[in-house]
Amino acid sequence: MSKKNKLNDLEGKEWIKFQKSWFIHNPPPREKGVLVHPAKFPETLVQEFIEFFTKEGQTVLDPMVGTGSTLLACAASGRNGIGIELNPKYAEIAEQRIKDFKKQGDLFHKKVKLKVIVANAANVAKLKLPEVDYIITSPPYWDMLRMRGAHTQKKRREAEALDVWYSDDPDDLGNVSNYDEFVDKLCNTYVKLEPVLKTRGYITIIVKNVKKKGRVYPLAWDIGKKLGEVYTLKDERIWCQDNQRLNPYGIYNAWVSNTFHHYCLNLRKE
Ligand SMILES: C[S@@+](CC[C@H](N)C(=O)[O-])C[C@H]1O[C@@H](n2cnc3c(N)ncnc32)[C@H](O)[C@@H]1O
Repeated sequence: MSKKNKLNDLEGKEWIKFQKSWFIHNPPPREKGVLVHPAKFPETLVQEFIEFFTKEGQTVLDPMVGTGSTLLACAASGRNGIGIELNPKYAEIAEQRIKDFKKQGDLFHKKVKLKVIVANAANVAKLKLPEVDYIITSPPYWDMLRMRGAHTQKKRREAEALDVWYSDDPDDLGNVSNYDEFVDKLCNTYVKLEPVLKTRGYITIIVKNVKKKGRVYPLAWDIGKKLGEVYTLKDERIWCQDNQRLNPYGIYNAWVSNTFHHYCLNLRKE
C-alpha cells in the first residue's frame, strides 16, 4: 500500500476500480433472520464503500442501521461501527447478527468495537457520539413501503409474519406522507450528523428516485441538491442490479421503466 494514501488501505488498482461511476451488484439471498425487515442493503456492497472511504481501525456511523448490515461490514473489514436505529425490533436483530457473526471466528476482526443505539437519528446531538470518519446509510424511500403492491404486502404479511413497513412510530421517516415534508425532515436529520463527522470525511447515501401513482419523485436528486448546501456533493455511483425480473408495465400503451438502479450519493464535509 502506498504510504501517500491518506484515505484508505487500497492499492492503486483497487482504487481505480472503485472510480467507475456505475457497478453491478446483485444481492445474495437474504438470511432468514433479516427477512422480517422490508428493505436492507447487502453487507458486501457496504463493505466496498467502507473499504474505500476509511482505513482499518477508523469509525463508521450508520444513523438508520436497520438490521445492522453496516456493522457486519465493519466487523468484516476491521472498522469500528456505530448504528442508530429507531425500531427496537430491528436493533435487536442487529445485535443478534453481530453475536452470530462473532461466532464465525476468522471473518470477524477481533479488535473492532460495534455499538447499536436505539434512538431517533434526529436526536444525534444528545447521544454524545465520538467523532466518526465516515457515514454510510440508506433512508426509508419516503412512504413507499406503504404503497407497495397489495399482492406483495399480502404475501409478506400472511406467509411469514414479515413486516410490510418499518413501524407506526411518528418519528419513523417512512411514515411522513407529504413528500416535501419528508425530504426536509430527512435532510435535516443528515445535517444534524455534520458535527459528528470529521472534517474531510465522506457521507454516502444509498437511495432511489421513487415512483408513486404514475409520477416520479426525484428523491435522490432532491437529497443531493439540498444536502449539497451543507456538505459538498461530489458525485453519484450508480448501483445496478441485473438479475431482476422484467415486468411489462404499461406495455403497448405508455412508458413505464423497470427501475433496477439506486444512487450512492457521495458528499464530503469540507
Ligand atoms: C432502508 S432501511 C435501512 C436498512 C439497513 N441499511 C439494513 O441493511 O438493514 C431504513 C431504516 O431507517 C429506520 N428509521 C426510520 N426513521 C428513523 C429515524 N428517525 N431514526 C432512526 N432510524 C429510522 C427504519 O426503521 C429502517 O430500519
